[in-house]
Amino acid sequence: MSIHKEQIKSALAHVVHPVYEKDLISLDLIQDLIVQDKYVSFTLEMPRKDDELASLLQKQCTQAIHKFADKDAVLDITIGINISRQRELEGKGDAPENQKKAPEPQEQILSGVKNVIAVASGKGGVGKSTVAANLAVALSQSGAKVGLLDTDIYGPSVPTMFNVTERPDITTKKKLVPIFKHGVHLVSMGFLVDTDQAMIWRGPMVTSAVKQFMQEVEWGELDYLILDLPPGTGDIQLTIVQTVPLTGAVIVSTPQTVALDDARKGVAMFSKVNVPVLGIVENMSHFIPDDQPEKKYYIFGKHGARNLARKLEVPFLGEVPLREQIRETSDSGTPIVAADPTSPAAIGLKEIANRVQQTVDIQNRDGQSGEKIEITIRP
Ligand SMILES: Nc1ncnc2c1ncn2[C@@H]1O[C@H](COP(=O)(O)OP(=O)(O)OP(=O)(O)O)[C@@H](O)[C@H]1O
Ligand SMILES: [Mg+2]
Repeated sequence: MSIHKEQIKSALAHVVHPVYEKDLISLDLIQDLIVQDKYVSFTLEMPRKDDELASLLQKQCTQAIHKFADKDAVLDITIGINISRQRELEGKGDAPENQKKAPEPQEQILSGVKNVIAVASGKGGVGKSTVAANLAVALSQSGAKVGLLDTDIYGPSVPTMFNVTERPDITTKKKLVPIFKHGVHLVSMGFLVDTDQAMIWRGPMVTSAVKQFMQEVEWGELDYLILDLPPGTGDIQLTIVQTVPLTGAVIVSTPQTVALDDARKGVAMFSKVNVPVLGIVENMSHFIPDDQPEKKYYIFGKHGARNLARKLEVPFLGEVPLREQIRETSDSGTPIVAADPTSPAAIGLKEIANRVQQTVDIQNRDGQSGEKIEITIRP
């Protein structure tokens, strides 16, 4: 007897993704299913190359089909890398009427961008730009097309962190061409606006400059656009997050109480405008001296941001130690995940990038934008 497609689908509905904790059919991870007699072929989609997970899933799919559909089925399972696109988000929440997001034209401008992720914090100097730069580079190292927009007009970081000294090109359509470095398409307010001059700008001037920036950049096709936000949760930040169709936000905090109070405000700001918080990153979680790498000093307190994430019921994305090498690599223009990819700090940052990617993917596939998402991270 030949096998039916429906039998295969119901067999695969028994396979639970070990990271997303949902079955492969509900997650819409099975594509191009072909069934002919005893021959079954399909593509299993993943957001990035992960051989270990791929072979585990292939094995589980084969077992499930043999058990629930046909023990003689002959399988041909291909792994396809496909970064999912952000779903349409619901209305932008209960923001004041005059601040509600206009649906166009910005959305059309970013129509080639699959996911827009804001990196924010309540407090200044906690490492947003460091996390944003390394997140962008790590995502590009995993095979994604990535852009980074530094929206901090008062204190842009991208020119230093990526050592950009040249001015970007302008297309014939008068659009700005991002500068490509360490695998990332970069645009910074600092490329065009003199920081000293911007210091005297008032809030509305800043927000209109940021909006203009987003419209007038030739981003092209991107899997992820990372926005490095200025510190705080004021009007400028609120306008930015409502101007762009955000997939979600990553909140960076250091472990001490003053930073955590502000991180809480950051989470509240995104909830207010219905932007999902993808999770909290704890930066400078502990100090590791270069000459004593086995020592850990919890100079800002222990696990503050981790505990805050638990309290606020948002995912904890990981911790980044305070290390001289992170500051040095940023200051010299090559983020640590590119400068020293096998260092423990770079590995930690790459794990954070993987978690962001997984959280975004499950959110997109689940269609649960705006709701709390729990994922289990494989060790
Ligand atoms: N984990 C770390 N270890 C060592 N130095 C770090 C770490 N994280 C950030 N720094 C350094 O701390 C300084 C502030 O970091 P960064 O510019 O990323 O913070 P920020 O939150 O973006 O600041 P701002 O609020 O001004 O935008 C930088 O010099 C950076 O290199
Ligand atoms: Mg910054």
